[in-house]
Amino acid sequence: MISVNVSTASQNALETIRQNLVTFADHYPNDTTTSNVYALRRAQNGFGEGANYGWTTSFWPGVLWLAYDLTGEDTYLCAAQEHIQSFIQRIEGKIDLDTHDIGFLYTLSCVVPWRITANIQAKHAALKAAEQLMTRYIDKIGVFQAWGKLDNPELRGNTIIDSLMNMPMLYWASEITGESRFAQAAHRHTTRVAENIIRPNNTTYHSFYWDVETGVPLRGSTVQGFADDSCWARGQAWAIYGFTLNYRYTSDESFLDAAQRCADYFLDHLPADHVPYWDLVFTDGSAEERDSSAAAIAVCGLIELVHYLSEGDRQRRYQTAAEAILSSLVANYTPRNLSESNALLLHSVYDKPKAIGVDEGSLWGDYYYMEALTRTLKPDWKVYW
Ligand code: GLY
Repeated sequence: MISVNVSTASQNALETIRQNLVTFADHYPNDTTTSNVYALRRAQNGFGEGANYGWTTSFWPGVLWLAYDLTGEDTYLCAAQEHIQSFIQRIEGKIDLDTHDIGFLYTLSCVVPWRITANIQAKHAALKAAEQLMTRYIDKIGVFQAWGKLDNPELRGNTIIDSLMNMPMLYWASEITGESRFAQAAHRHTTRVAENIIRPNNTTYHSFYWDVETGVPLRGSTVQGFADDSCWARGQAWAIYGFTLNYRYTSDESFLDAAQRCADYFLDHLPADHVPYWDLVFTDGSAEERDSSAAAIAVCGLIELVHYLSEGDRQRRYQTAAEAILSSLVANYTPRNLSESNALLLHSVYDKPKAIGVDEGSLWGDYYYMEALTRTLKPDWKVYW
């Protein structure tokens, strides 16, 4: 689908990125916009304004790498490279890294510059990050703990569907070091997630607990979804893309099957304009907000998934759906101009139950929207994950 609107959309996105380069420089914006405008990351807990903390900062350099891949322009390359040092300092100091999201953080900030420019410092930082992530692996249950300190009894033995996106950095670490332990842990984690977090009706729990003493699976729940037994839209999108990426590195057919089951449910529960409400329990007529970021993640997952399927109805369905979702995002979910917003994509929801970032732009929404445009305009784009 190299249509005029995708090409125009990428030009508009690039214009916004050029402006944000000046505004953000080597600092970081907040996770989401406020009234559609990104401000510098707020100063808190000893971090200064615009500091590198939290789970979303790498999406900004990720957007810059995509802009460079799309245009070949040095402006984006230089700007993207400026962030490497900050992430080196962050891993050296183990700053705010009690999270599985180390994969999101270091894939985009350090694995990508290693792949694109052979930056050795970035490679070393990413390998340290992979080691740091490995400290969160609980061998008894075969799962990476998602959040918080490892001795926190409330969070011990818990993982979330988003974790699937943090596994590619571990497959990469195995490739680079020749040590299979990273990939083995990632494979086992994804297997445990597939066995427990997908319900029989192909919806997913956001979160799942195991007993760390016995290894027994305990219960699913939600944190950002509507209810423990509903299907958080972004979680389902993480599942589509995450299982597909895990298949990419393992050729484990059960992951390909899981990705398709999650995709089928997601597509069967989209409203007429192809962009989901923040939880798939809501349907047209609902007054609830959409989560455009879930749509953007799903587009990237579906395009990746199509590569592994043989020609047929299912492959066509996913291809057509990816095009329809992206067209709707371009037509209905992007700002008209820079004075409306400095986000690339409007109308995402971070955490509705906590009323955080509701109906705002988000850094990950911007990143996956830009990845979706790049994948469409440049079909030979080398996957970052
Ligand atoms: N990974 C956190 C989120 O999707 O909100």
